[in-house]
This record gives sequence, structure tokens and C-alpha cells, in this order.
Amino acid sequence: MSDSLCNIGFIGLGVMGKNLTLNLADHGFKIACFDLDSSKIDDLIATDKYENPQGESRIVGCYSYTELLQKLTAPHLIILSVPAGEPVDHVCHHLIDAGIEADDIVIDTGNSLWTDSVEREKKYKGKFIFFSTAVSGGEVGARFGPSLMPSGDPYAWTRIEPVFTAIAAKVDPETGKPMESHVPGQPIQGGEPCATYIGPIGAGHYVKMVHNGIEYADMQLICEAYDLMKTGLGMTSLEIAEIFREWNKGILNSYLMEISAEVLSKIDDETGQPLVELIMDKAGQKGTGLWTAVSALQVGAPTQTITQAVFARSLSSLKAERTQAASVLTGPEPARLSNDAKSAAIEALRDALYCSKICSYAQGFQLMAMAAKEHGWKLEFAEIAKIWRAGCIIRAVFLQSITNAYERDDDLANLLLDPFFAEQLINLQGHWRKTIADATLMGIPCAAMSSALNYFDSYRRETLPANLLQGQRDYFGAHTYERVDCTPGKKYHTEWNMTGQPQIKIKR
Ligand code: 6PG
Repeated sequence: MSDSLCNIGFIGLGVMGKNLTLNLADHGFKIACFDLDSSKIDDLIATDKYENPQGESRIVGCYSYTELLQKLTAPHLIILSVPAGEPVDHVCHHLIDAGIEADDIVIDTGNSLWTDSVEREKKYKGKFIFFSTAVSGGEVGARFGPSLMPSGDPYAWTRIEPVFTAIAAKVDPETGKPMESHVPGQPIQGGEPCATYIGPIGAGHYVKMVHNGIEYADMQLICEAYDLMKTGLGMTSLEIAEIFREWNKGILNSYLMEISAEVLSKIDDETGQPLVELIMDKAGQKGTGLWTAVSALQVGAPTQTITQAVFARSLSSLKAERTQAASVLTGPEPARLSNDAKSAAIEALRDALYCSKICSYAQGFQLMAMAAKEHGWKLEFAEIAKIWRAGCIIRAVFLQSITNAYERDDDLANLLLDPFFAEQLINLQGHWRKTIADATLMGIPCAAMSSALNYFDSYRRETLPANLLQGQRDYFGAHTYERVDCTPGKKYHTEWNMTGQPQIKIKR
């Protein structure tokens, strides 16, 4: 091994950290790595030797924070891949003790809460530059090209950019589709990198949080389509996998659709049954969907489909209660359909899934727009849609249509108003409505799909019953209301329970 110093320090060699390090090495960076568990350092060096048997070692193991700093060129560039929360600060404090300097950069790539990143930038100012970069793509993405959402000090970004644009997933500029290579040591050449500077500290992790909210909705919508075919149409897991494969060839093409077909096709070695039927129907969650829903409530963004997806996971986890309720709360039984009716129902379901998906993305982008306004960020939505076209979990052909929509109009108030998406929803809504009506009559829950339809129906209504709601609020709490026949913004209050004509008063 050569004695030359390394370009990048890497701390945290779990699945994501290990794969990001190998990805960096494949792109010609020399890495000094550290983990509290030294067996992970040894394992990474062994993997590097196995993948790169002839070459000079690209990864240098360090067994303390001080050694890590000594092995790096200055100013130091250090990437963290440690669990979100306290571990990030733990590492930062150790780096300070080891002598990190004011112009060194520490990049947090974990699934951190965006407000924690904002606090950390302030807290470590003068000690080092804290920068955040959210990563999507799971372990394969980390190894061969993730989608990266960097945010923080723009000067730091000029130093980080060549590294992240090198290791990010790539999109074919002609087709807008992912360019994939899963061969160690043979990274993709050319293509548009799925890494773009998002904005000030926290903005990148906010955008990634919304990505995960959309991911929750996408997954739940696919699960509802599965349930409608399984419970409503009596189809087997393997038959449903075939339908998903078919859908994956068209507008519904996505990584999540592809892996759902794979999951449904997997046969359990021991029992010979589809494995999915042996998996307990209790969903886990690490919190990013919840954070999205909480943030949406805070900024007043209507993200009902994303939020329903979080609730659906919570409800699924009440397995014992549901088992009890199943024997008490009876409902309709789905009728068996003729083959023709079944084919028509599957076709309608495909369109219902597509329309619901459009609405959940519209909600996610609307949330980002409202949050950006509140936090003073200038988010470039066409660029965000672009970096989600490859590498990340929600990657889909559909993201190119979203990119096009924001390229047509970067001030678009809502994706539903883009001419392409508006036309799709207007034309396909019949199938969407029929699917949800049939599901309701059969007693099959489709919370995310029906919330998406409700979003569409509410958003397209010039009038909503909030006039009565305002009357109720004013009645019991003198909360005032605006009048449609007077100057907007002017507040009125009525003495509702006085006899005779209500009196109108202007509240100042
Ligand atoms: C990604 C994923 C990743 C992780 C989720 C899982 O973009 O790579 O979203 O961040 O798989 O955090 O979240 P849940 O455990 O909450 O499903």
C-alpha cells in the first residue's frame, strides 16, 4: 500500500457506509475509514481486496479518530454514515477532540431529522463545517449509485460536488431512464448525475423526508392494489405478480412496482408456498413518513394520501386487536366476478393506481413548496424530480413527466394543474371512481387510494363546505369569518344566538 494521504475520511461502516465507501473507491477516491467496531474495518478492507485483487489498496483502515485525521489531506473531507440522532453528535465531538479544524467539512448522510441538521450547523460553526446530504437507494444504490440531496454551506458544496456527482446514480439524458451497472470496479460512464445542490442546511434532508413520505404512499397504494386483486378478485400471489410485471411495462413503471412483483413471486423454500403469504401483516416504520405527516400538518399542506399511508402502517400493527375485531365486526363478502368483469376490474385498478400516484406526488411537491416558502428556501422542483429518476427508492419513468411539468412552468402551483397530468386525471377518473366504489361495496379498505380521490375532488372544487365550518367557529368562539360579498381579508362576527336578525359586526 502506498503511503500517500487519502482524499476522503469515512466514518460508520454499516451496510450503507460500507457500500458508499466501495462506490467512492470505484470512482478513484482513496478513503481512510473508521468504525467503532473494528471488525467492520477489517471486513471492508477484505471486500476491497476481493473486488480489486490486482490494484493498489484503495481503502486505509484507521483505528481511532486521530489516526483518521492523520491519514487525510487537509482541509479534511469526512463523510458520516451513522444512525440518525445522538450518534451523529457523538462522532462530531470525537472529531473535535481529535483536532478537526474550522475549514474541515463533515457530511452527515444518515436519515437525520432536517431540523437537527440546522441545529448542528450552528452548533459546530467555527469548529468545522457541518454539511448534510440525504441519501436514497438502499444498499444497492449506495454501492452502485444513489440519489443524493446535499444541502449546507455553498462553499463546502464546491469542494464536495465532484465527489458526489461522481458516485451518484446516472440518468441517460436521451431517454430519462436510469443507466445501471452493478459490476464492482466498473462504474457508469457519462450520464446525468442524480445529485444536485438543494439549498441551505436542512433543505436536503427535508426533501429526502418528503421523498420518504411519497415512498410510503407509493408502497401503500401498491399494497391496496394487491389487496383488491387478492381479496376482491380472488387472485393468487403469482397471478398478481404477473399483473404487476405487465403494469411495470407502461406508465406505472417503477422500482417499487418491479420489486413488488419479485416479492409476490418468491416461493418459501420450506413450505413451497409464496413467501409473502407467510409474512406477518404488521408494517414497521422508522419515522420519516411520520415526520412528513407532522411537517405537513405544521405548514398546513394537505398530504392526505401520504398521511393515510402512515396511518395504514399504524393500523396494521394492531394485529391482535384486528384479529379480535374480525370476529365481531362483520361486513360484506366480495362476490365472485366473471372473467370479463375481472379483466375490466384489473384495467380500472391500474388507472386508479396511476391517478392516486399522481395525487400523492402532487401532495409531496405541494408540501415542499409550502415548506420552502416558510423556511425561505428556493427549491428547484424540476431538478428535484430529475435526481429522483434514478438511484432512489421511488425512481420511476413517471418522474420524467414531473420533470417536464416543472420545466414547462417552474412556478406551477400544483402538479394537478399541469396540462399533461390534468388531462390524465380527467380522462382516467371514471376507472378510479369505479374501483373505489366497488372496493367500498365489497368492504375492502383502500385508504390511500380513496384519500387521493378525495384530494382530487376537494382540490378541483371552487366551493367547499368550510363556509358552514366558519359559521360554527364564529358561533361558539367568536372566531370571525370573511364574507364572499365584501372585501377579502375583512373579518366579521355575528351574535348568532340573539333573537331577531343576526347582527353583523366588524372585528378589528
Ligand atoms: C431510501 C429509503 C431508506 C429507508 C427508509 C425505510 O430512500 O433509501 O427510504 O431511507 O429504507 O428509511 O423507512 P421505513 O423503515 O420507515 O419504512
